Amino acid sequence: MSPLIQMHGITKSYQLWKEDLMVVKWIDIEIHDGEFVSIMGQSGSGKSTLMNIIWMLDNPSTGTYIFNGRDVSWLTDDDQALIRRQNIGFIFQSYNLLPRTSALHQVVMPLIYQGVWKKERTERAIEALQKVGLANKINNLPNEMSGGQQQRVSIARALVTNPSIILADEPTGALDSKTGVEIMELLTELNKEGKTVIVITHEHEVDAFAKRHILLRDGNIVT
Ligand SMILES: Nc1ncnc2c1ncn2[C@@H]1O[C@H](COP(=O)(O)OP(=O)(O)O)[C@@H](O)[C@H]1O
Ligand SMILES: [Mg+2]
Repeated sequence: MSPLIQMHGITKSYQLWKEDLMVVKWIDIEIHDGEFVSIMGQSGSGKSTLMNIIWMLDNPSTGTYIFNGRDVSWLTDDDQALIRRQNIGFIFQSYNLLPRTSALHQVVMPLIYQGVWKKERTERAIEALQKVGLANKINNLPNEMSGGQQQRVSIARALVTNPSIILADEPTGALDSKTGVEIMELLTELNKEGKTVIVITHEHEVDAFAKRHILLRDGNIVT
C-alpha cells in the first residue's frame, strides 16, 4: 500500500532581514496508515514548522508532499483546508478551546463546518465525549474542567469528524506527568483502533509511547 504521507526534499525557510533562515532541511518522510510515530527534538529544532507543513497549514519552501497518493504541494489553500478537515484531527498543547463554550458545543463545531445536520452532530459529539471519558461533563465550560479534561475535550473535537490521522503538537506539555500519561494512553487506544497517530514532543516520556521515532535536530532528521 502506498504511504499515507510521503515527503521529499522538504525545506522551510523564513526571511529575516536580508538572509533566509532555513529551519527545516531536506526532509524525507514516509508515514503509513495505522502507524504511531513521534517527531522528537529539542525546542527550536523545527518540529512545529514541520507539523504545520504536514497538516497543510503552511506550505514548504521546496519539496514535494504527497498525501494519500495525491500531490498536495500546489493545491490552493481552500483545497488543502478541505483535505485537512476531512482527514486530520489536530491536538494543541494549549487545547485551543473556546471560552464560555460548553464541551458539547466545542465538539459540535467541526461538524457545523462540515454541514452535518443538528441532530446527527449532537449525537456524534456526545459519542466522541463519551469515548474520551467525559460523558458527565458535556455541559461544562473550559474553566470548569481540569487541564486533562480540557485536553480530552480537544481530543473529542479532533475525533468527531472521524479523521484517519490524529496530529498532536506537545499534547501533554501543559499537563502534570500523571495526567500526561493518561492522555498518551488515550492516544495509544485510538491508534489500536486504527488511527494513524503523529505526536511531536521534546519529552522522552511521551516519545516512549510511539512505535516509531523520528528525531529532528536543527531542522534535519537524524536516525
Ligand atoms: N514565522 C517564523 N519566522 C522566523 N523564524 C521562525 C518562524 N517560526 C519559527 N521560526 C524559527 O524556526 C525554528 C524552529 O521553530 P519551531 O518549528 O517552532 O521549533 P520547535 O517546535 O521544535 O520548538 C526556531 O529557530 C524558530 O525561531
Ligand atoms: Mg513547537
